[in-house]
Amino acid sequence: MSRRIQRRQFVKASAALAVGSVLPMSGQGSDANARLRTAHVGVGGMGGSDLKSVSSHSGVEVAALCDVDANILKEAAAKFPKARTFRDYREMISMMGDTIDACVVSTPDHTHAPAAMTAMNHGKPVYCQKPLTHEVFEARQLRLVADKKRLVTQMGIQASAGLPYRRATQMIQSGVIGKVNRVLAWSYKNWGYDGPVFTKFDDIPKNLDWDLWLGTAAIRSFKKGVYHRGAWRKQIDFGTGTLGDMGVHIFDTPYRALALTSPTWAKTTCRKPTGVGHPETNIVEYEFPGTKYTTDTMNWTWYDGAAAPPSTEGLGVSQGLKLPGQGALFVGEEGTMLLPHSSEPLLFPEDKFKKEKRPELDSRNHYHQWVDACMGKGKTSSPFSYAGPLTEALLLGVVANRFPGQKLHWDANNLTVHNVKEADALLKRVPREGFQVAGL
Ligand SMILES: NC(=O)c1ccc[n+]([C@@H]2O[C@H](COP(=O)([O-])OP(=O)(O)OC[C@H]3O[C@@H](n4cnc5c(N)ncnc54)[C@H](O)[C@@H]3O)[C@@H](O)[C@H]2O)c1
Repeated sequence: MSRRIQRRQFVKASAALAVGSVLPMSGQGSDANARLRTAHVGVGGMGGSDLKSVSSHSGVEVAALCDVDANILKEAAAKFPKARTFRDYREMISMMGDTIDACVVSTPDHTHAPAAMTAMNHGKPVYCQKPLTHEVFEARQLRLVADKKRLVTQMGIQASAGLPYRRATQMIQSGVIGKVNRVLAWSYKNWGYDGPVFTKFDDIPKNLDWDLWLGTAAIRSFKKGVYHRGAWRKQIDFGTGTLGDMGVHIFDTPYRALALTSPTWAKTTCRKPTGVGHPETNIVEYEFPGTKYTTDTMNWTWYDGAAAPPSTEGLGVSQGLKLPGQGALFVGEEGTMLLPHSSEPLLFPEDKFKKEKRPELDSRNHYHQWVDACMGKGKTSSPFSYAGPLTEALLLGVVANRFPGQKLHWDANNLTVHNVKEADALLKRVPREGFQVAGL
């Protein structure tokens, strides 16, 4: 049996084993010379960082790189001269075929699902940046297909593997502050745009394939500083605003620690929709059904832009406490936990919890976790089975910012907003002709 065939088999076998259970090191996965050949979609910005982190695993061989910006692609290729380079991920995945084992997706949000689904349709395990998708429907589909094909997956919320978030999760689940009835989460960031429709446009840079960058989204003219790079986050067709961008990191611990499922409703307080950008300031309220770590129902409120941080009045923290720019507060029946973004949790009242012991935890590498799971060792901490429902919940709040002040009642089983049919219509994008992907 050739080494290549052996490798194909262990990825498939370990993918099958890795779903939902702790794995022993498999015989095939323990082959010290085995390599996981990775293909990367989007290699600038966070994609560059993902490439570095994934390839820092000794078992990884970077086999293919794809970017729609020729300058960025060239820069990445200089670091991985053996990797084949592509502009179009569809071509990369189909041409590389069995010579790649797994795929990393680090593009703007609107291309996450099309690229990840294309890879999964070819049976590849996927590491996909956060938020998992741009559309609620896409999050559901990625989860279902990953589950059906038993593929190893991970969404890029690296802080979830870090000590502060894991420690906070254990403390909440141990009941340190009793049952939680409310969560407040916030980010000072402003990934919104309250300005008018764009009227003046710019030439498409020679190094950029604008048509491929737009992908599934409707065609439009290029404008500097609005889309490529980074600023696409503010635009409704491409990004998911501050809630999708930072909320997914910050809401991760409450969602995980409290074992939340699907919200029953979401309501956003923000300015009227403009059809262009996400609102610059949002307050998003959700209600979740109770779990064993919460009271009968659980209310969660998100604050961003100028609305962050929220007032701490009546929340049980020390008087005069200045909240960090980003973080979450868990309000429990027996105390309050402040979890600054990516920092150690603090408990209130301070006197009561002065001697509270902190759980000792080992450190983990979120990227290596995925590589190891692809190779049959262990499991990922944010597979699509977890990331899908988390992203659906968040994106429902993003949809709600198009209907300010209205409660969107959510029927998760039937994937429908059952009281506002215009909101229901925004759960799924009709992809541009030529960019349809089976399953989406
Ligand atoms: N986990 C984190 O901490 C973290 C931090 C920053 C960004 N992100 C996520 O990473 C993703 C990228 O964000 P960014 O800030 O790096 O954006 P960016 O615009 O700076 O970079 C995106 C890269 O993808 C490339 N690209 C765009 N469309 C493509 C396509 N169709 N095919 C191939 N390449 C394509 C671009 O040319 C660019 O190199 C987003 O989903 C974002 O939410 C995550």
